[in-house]
Amino acid sequence: MDFKSKLALLLKKALKKDVSALLEIPPEPALGDYSFPCFSLAKTFKKNPVQIAQELSKKIKAPFLAKVEVRGGYLNFFIAKEQRSAAVLTTVLKEKEGYGSSTEGKGKTVVIDMSSPNIAKPFGIGHLRSTIIGNALRHLLTFQGYKVVRINHLGDWGTQFGKLITAYKQWGNTVRLEKDPIHHLLDLYVKFHTEVEQHPELEEEGRSWFKRLEEQDAEALRLWKKFRDYSLANFNKIYQLLGVHFEEISGESFYNDQLDATIQLVEKAGLLKKSEGALLVDLEKFGMTSALLRKKDGATLYLTRDLAAALYRKKTYQFAKMLYEVGAEQQLHFQQLFKVLELLGHKWHRDCVHVSHGLYLGSDGKKLATRAGKIIFMEDVLQETITLARKIVEEKNPGLKEKDKVARAVGVGAILFGDLCNDRTKDVVFDIHKFTSFEGETGPYLQYTHARLCSILRKKTVTEKKIDCSLYDNLEHEILKQVGHFGDVVQDATQQYKPHILARYLLDLAQQINSFYVSHPVLQEKKELEQARLALVKVVQQVLQNGLRLLGIEALEEM
Ligand code: ARG
Repeated sequence: MDFKSKLALLLKKALKKDVSALLEIPPEPALGDYSFPCFSLAKTFKKNPVQIAQELSKKIKAPFLAKVEVRGGYLNFFIAKEQRSAAVLTTVLKEKEGYGSSTEGKGKTVVIDMSSPNIAKPFGIGHLRSTIIGNALRHLLTFQGYKVVRINHLGDWGTQFGKLITAYKQWGNTVRLEKDPIHHLLDLYVKFHTEVEQHPELEEEGRSWFKRLEEQDAEALRLWKKFRDYSLANFNKIYQLLGVHFEEISGESFYNDQLDATIQLVEKAGLLKKSEGALLVDLEKFGMTSALLRKKDGATLYLTRDLAAALYRKKTYQFAKMLYEVGAEQQLHFQQLFKVLELLGHKWHRDCVHVSHGLYLGSDGKKLATRAGKIIFMEDVLQETITLARKIVEEKNPGLKEKDKVARAVGVGAILFGDLCNDRTKDVVFDIHKFTSFEGETGPYLQYTHARLCSILRKKTVTEKKIDCSLYDNLEHEILKQVGHFGDVVQDATQQYKPHILARYLLDLAQQINSFYVSHPVLQEKKELEQARLALVKVVQQVLQNGLRLLGIEALEEM
């Protein structure tokens, strides 16, 4: 099926030079399937690009080429449709679940720092984005042969836990904590902040509890651990619903015993500066605020722990890339982190990438608030969406078996796709009703399209080994051409860390197959025609299945 490599080989023979990197896919189908710009060859051959293209067009001939056309300095290649369609069918039917995968990442490890909510707080809406996008990237990278380590870098350390212990000691309630830990802890946190205005001594008490925590005081540790366990149990409910797992859950606290050594390393490299009792790395000449590593009261910071974490992960995993799937508002933090790694002499600072994302906005276009009183509980949002999906499924298909399972997959798929169909760097309007609609650019629309194809294939299947591709019309050839691009799309989405490239492709393909469906009855009297159309349905179904799975969405067979 790989016409591109075949073409590259022909060009190589004609030019005595490997030019495969120059082959492009033209912006419009009218310009052919592949195009070769001759501009960069002008110097070597001392001829103008049009002349080069004309001469080449006479040399390059093969049965799979229907037409070779010169246009300006470009050489446009038209692959013979029937041959292309036949090759696509054979490949997809043979490779099945593996269709579109590659071995590019074989032997290489990628670390993805993702999700990373803060304990004793509700799972934030930004953490949801990180979880969804991070997990899609994990699937994409795995499909390309990489070994992926997903790390949940929990926010489980910092002065706030001193405050929380203080609040719990004053107003805490064991029964409430057990029943509804996240709400209770949040209430305590809010109460602390209102009370401290009247009773400033609480601040001091909070500091002293955090100090005890840092000194491994048994009581402080016991409470902290309790908060952590309860929080994690709550987060796990969300991960379970979303179908997300982690290879490593090690929060900020995991690096506590590595922080002194980390700061020593920075000192040995001659980078550490003392300023009013605090320790920092001066980054002013790089146009950044300085990287504070230890405050004057001795406390370490988020950045100190991230520095220790980066060093530890490099040593542990020897990663080829480390991705931080974290909101764009932390851009400066990661710039500082990567700069300090660079100054420490680690060339691999270039392999660290802040894969940032935008915000979720409310339907009013404003940032979804997370301040007291307006906090959104992700678990509730997910449950509500599933309930909504249940209603819709009930309406559409009252006779369906396993409605709960389907509703769950549709509800979760709606949220996943609602996020993933947008360029991650942009803000997304979080609109559950839009996400769950069966029409438009939604997860349920794709799932439904997939289920529809499955239902045809339950009636009849492809039995014929050799499909007569001369029976296809232009639309059908065009659909098969798209199917043939799946691997390139997957690769593109992976390289740019942008799952929406795949999501958009799947939407286009779904639209095409739905218009095919209206005008091309699949079940036919004539067996050859029926087989040809069934084969087309089968390969599109396969690509939708593979694509949905890469986004973390269940490809349902019935809904
Ligand atoms: N817990 C942090 C937050 O909620 C996100 C952590 C991201 N990962 C990291 N290695 N800094 O803002």
